[in-house]
Amino acid sequence: MSILLVTGGCGFIGSNFIRHLLATDPATSIINFDALTYAGNLANLVDIAKHPRYRFVKGDITDRDNVRAAMALGVTDIIHFAAESHVDRSIQDSGPFVRTNVNGTQNLLDAAREFSVKKYVQVSTDEVYGSLGATGLFTEETPLHANSPYSASKAGADLLVQAYHHTFGLPTVITRCSNNYGPFQFPEKLIPLFVTNLMRDEPVPVYGDGQQIRDWIHVHDHCTGVEAAWRNGTAGEVYNFGGKCEKTNLDLTHLIIDLLGKPRTLIRYVADRLGHDRRYAIDCSKAERELGWQPKVSFETGLNETIAWYKANSAWIDGIRNKEYMTYFEKQYGNLK
Ligand code: NAD
Ligand code: TYD
Repeated sequence: MSILLVTGGCGFIGSNFIRHLLATDPATSIINFDALTYAGNLANLVDIAKHPRYRFVKGDITDRDNVRAAMALGVTDIIHFAAESHVDRSIQDSGPFVRTNVNGTQNLLDAAREFSVKKYVQVSTDEVYGSLGATGLFTEETPLHANSPYSASKAGADLLVQAYHHTFGLPTVITRCSNNYGPFQFPEKLIPLFVTNLMRDEPVPVYGDGQQIRDWIHVHDHCTGVEAAWRNGTAGEVYNFGGKCEKTNLDLTHLIIDLLGKPRTLIRYVADRLGHDRRYAIDCSKAERELGWQPKVSFETGLNETIAWYKANSAWIDGIRNKEYMTYFEKQYGNLK
């Protein structure tokens, strides 16, 4: 029996991961450790809140006592999703990114050592590799060249993880995935922002010339990758995951607009993001070879289903737009302070 400490389980990918694992692995219990920042939403997991193998613990990874108290619940493995995750916010203020992504990771690594975890999985990002030109792919050997405060803080965390493996023999695995999309993504990232704006006939802001390229992967494929890295990844190794689906932001914007049946006049070209990375693209052959993993969701199916999900869940969107979700914890669990 494994008892996983899943950090950041109330966010986009963490909530999808928890739902996936509870549904498919009866031998695993999950403690969801989340600080409920603006990006954490208990409504993401309302359907499994009372699941017998699931427990929510409100806690902050930057607080060592919080982390140690959660570890003492019998944790055998850590899957670390919790992070400040939005590049634009990191450009506004890098402080929370360094605190959560670097110092928070350090706390988890120390706790992982103290409690002798069987496996520690660091959920990282392809953005630590920097930006590609028109050709080439990121491999696990690509040098780290982070360009944004977000990616720099994730790269700093990755270096700490590798140092804890090298110095202390901690059984760590790092995953680096490309851009995710799917249900429960906070509507500040491109796909959910554009879909939810367009649903209300509001304009969508395309940064710069819109010719930046991202490699899109459905969140379910990322979750099966993290699971495979946890179960079968070799300690000390890094595994890249990607969707083999490169698109320019403008092509993607046109696709979303067309699928929603809206006019392209809703596009607004706005000032470019500072330091904007031009192209990300992933070589995930190591994960395919060594973990037996493959991305399975085609972009056409995944995007159609994602749009359908946002259309069917307007209450979830409204809860975020009017910040109602922020009071969800007190409603469900009472004020614990
Ligand atoms: P998200 O912003 O949707 O969720 C982050 C979660 O972490 C939230 O529930 C938040 O409350 C929690 N959190 C933040 N600070 C915390 C703290 N100090 N203590 C405890 N909990 C805290 O993020 P996401 O998109 O689900 O990303 C999850 C992870 O995957 C991140 O580490 C991110 O870097 C990585 N990643 C994301 C993508 C992507 O496309 N979204 C791609 C590759 C990797
Ligand atoms: P985003 O979803 O923020 O992910 P990341 O920056 O981690 O890749 O952005 C995806 C791409 O879309 C990126 O090139 C920035 C661009 N973008 C826009 O053009 N307009 C927007 O409003 C947003 C949020 C992003």
